[in-house]
Amino acid sequence: MRFLVTGGAGYIGGILVPQLLSLGHDVTVLDTFKHGGTELAEACRYKGFTPVKGDARDLRLLDELTPRHDVLLPLAALVGAPLCKEDAIGAKTLNRDAVIELVKRTSKDQIVVYPTTNSGYGVGEQGKFCTEETPLRPISLYGVTKVEAEEAVLQAGNGVTLRLATVFGMAPRMRIDLLVNDLTYRAVHDRAVLIFEGRFKRNYIHIRDVAKAFIHAVENFDTMRGQPYNVGLSSANLSKIELCQRIQAQLPKFVFSEAPIGEDPDKRDYIVSNEKLERTGWSPDWSLDRGIAELIKGYTMLRNSRFANV
Ligand SMILES: NC(=O)c1ccc[n+]([C@@H]2O[C@H](COP(=O)([O-])OP(=O)(O)OC[C@H]3O[C@@H](n4cnc5c(N)ncnc54)[C@H](O)[C@@H]3O)[C@@H](O)[C@H]2O)c1
Repeated sequence: MRFLVTGGAGYIGGILVPQLLSLGHDVTVLDTFKHGGTELAEACRYKGFTPVKGDARDLRLLDELTPRHDVLLPLAALVGAPLCKEDAIGAKTLNRDAVIELVKRTSKDQIVVYPTTNSGYGVGEQGKFCTEETPLRPISLYGVTKVEAEEAVLQAGNGVTLRLATVFGMAPRMRIDLLVNDLTYRAVHDRAVLIFEGRFKRNYIHIRDVAKAFIHAVENFDTMRGQPYNVGLSSANLSKIELCQRIQAQLPKFVFSEAPIGEDPDKRDYIVSNEKLERTGWSPDWSLDRGIAELIKGYTMLRNSRFANV
């Protein structure tokens, strides 16, 4: 199949795109490549890979590229509440409008698989799992724009949406701002962390299982069409404190403590059911503990030290 992946050079795209290529698909990536340009080095050896340097909001590019592909994966976004707060216009035009424009240009025979966040579930009910029927109540601009784009994808009738838990794991374009990646980074390099809202629970998923979910959605499109699916580890609905304990099990010198030093802009405190996706035959390969072990290895090599000698 021919895939168009906007934002394909990002954290998720850097893992997903080479996998699609290795399965024999053709993949066009439309990205600004603002993270250095080596994220997709692995993809260049495939004949079917075409990078297009450009903006996912450029309607001329969307007119040209959309009809030429069978599967559209709109990944380009300003990802996370803090980044969207910094650039509200960018968030609305890229996270919402560009997805609406892309969907408008698709026909009913094309497939759209759209990743959104499960942070829209916000403050969950104590002990009650959020399912795909649970109302979405996003608070941050990031959550709001992602939910609006998801609605457009589902309304068009030729899409599947994946409501991703907090993603973790090593990737060519690394993101150490994601919770598991962040706490493990601090555990490796600082040996200590102060957390806030330590009892707030969330769900987590390894990046390679996210890639597996995209491929699964395309391969099972006829049964999954028109529906949202939570994508997370049913074995990992954990609070931040429990997450720290899991990291500590592998790094016994890691010390953590709690203090009211911050607040989550999306008030994320919920447990999520991933049963709907599991019933379609998808299952994760990566446990949280395996992902933490992978991160510890990765951080032995990776350190943010732009303004230091070590
Ligand atoms: N990582 C997560 O935990 C997570 C969770 C839920 C949903 N998602 C969604 O998955 C998608 C990918 O997330 P990610 O973690 O890979 O983010 P990322 O920030 O690593 O990747 C975003 C990519 O979009 C590109 N981009 C930015 N502006 C662009 C523009 N104007 N035109 C074209 N490309 C542009 C960037 O260069 C980057 O390659 C996003 O839609 C995000 O909302 C991610």
